[in-house]
Amino acid sequence: MTITANWSYPTAIKFGAGRIKELADHCKALGIKKPLLITDRGLAPMPITQNALDILDAAGLGRALFSDVDSNPTDVNLTAGVKAFKDGGHDGVIAFGGGSGLDLGKCVAFMAGQSRPVWDFEDIGDWWTRASVEGIAPIIAVPTTAGTGSEVGRASVITNSETHTKKVIFHPKFLPAVTICDPELTVGMPKVITAGTGMDAFAHCVEAYSSPFYHPMSAGIALEGLRLVKEYLPRAYKDGADIEARAHMMSAAAMGAVAFQKGLGAIHSLSHPVGAIYNTHHGMTNAVVMPPVLRFNRPAIEDKIGMAAAYLGISGGFDGFYDYVLKLREELGVPDKLSALGVGTDRIDEMAAMAIVDPTAGGNPVELTLDAAKQLFKECI
Ligand SMILES: [Fe+2]
Repeated sequence: MTITANWSYPTAIKFGAGRIKELADHCKALGIKKPLLITDRGLAPMPITQNALDILDAAGLGRALFSDVDSNPTDVNLTAGVKAFKDGGHDGVIAFGGGSGLDLGKCVAFMAGQSRPVWDFEDIGDWWTRASVEGIAPIIAVPTTAGTGSEVGRASVITNSETHTKKVIFHPKFLPAVTICDPELTVGMPKVITAGTGMDAFAHCVEAYSSPFYHPMSAGIALEGLRLVKEYLPRAYKDGADIEARAHMMSAAAMGAVAFQKGLGAIHSLSHPVGAIYNTHHGMTNAVVMPPVLRFNRPAIEDKIGMAAAYLGISGGFDGFYDYVLKLREELGVPDKLSALGVGTDRIDEMAAMAIVDPTAGGNPVELTLDAAKQLFKECI
């Protein structure tokens, strides 16, 4: 089997090793003459980024780069990005990187056409209809990790730098016009990032699958996403140059994000405040809080998880699945407690209050009350 394909679900996805070389062609097809490549600070000097800029440059599209992007991107990064986009006279965004580069890139393309503040487009009710659609710049997404799935998503997570809360900014036009999934770009990921981002994909699949909303298409995608993670994340972790494993993880990441249109849950509700306050790695934080949340949700998801376990070839129903998660975490060097990520018990009340109003909380199969959130944080820390 050749792991190369063109998919049009949920957007145009050019999937396969080496396909970054098509970047300039896709710019031209979209009418982009002066793209701005947006990525995070750490990735900017790396060879994969410079290679992407070389490809643009060779095609006469310049090599403009904006990389003033934090690992949890903020409104400050966003304002600077929009300014760079406008000052440079750009007409399209290449959102490049892990979650931070992708989310900020998408949001810059969107905000380039807006006059209202970004918080007016938080994912609440129909607030997205406030947006002016004409000025939104076309987006090409190029993921360099396999976890966030932001390359196929219609939202960005932006941290409010004043309140230190993470807000989901939503608009259908956040969905990139083209996504290039080139697994070779993920080969250089350090082991700890392979583990963290891979566990983020796993968390998306397990939470989407477990959420109580009716969306059988997403449930099916989540299930196969779980299987791909189970088969290939340990392989990608052991040997970062295993392109087949990297490719399947890239699919699993995209599938997790497609699936979570069905909803997320308390893994993310707990993880978001921890990330906003302590700047921890999102996927790694999810991996740490996953077992206590699974136990908490057990009464509502036992049968469902039993079916997933059967599909994954895990015996023992819910208990077998739970033990498998613990084993997977251990294999990937995930710490058992949040304290290992620098999280203390002193801000539990504040984090619990944030968790229950997080937009993901409503998708948890068991109601996440304030007391439950406090208790979960105690167990996790
Ligand atoms: Fe996530």
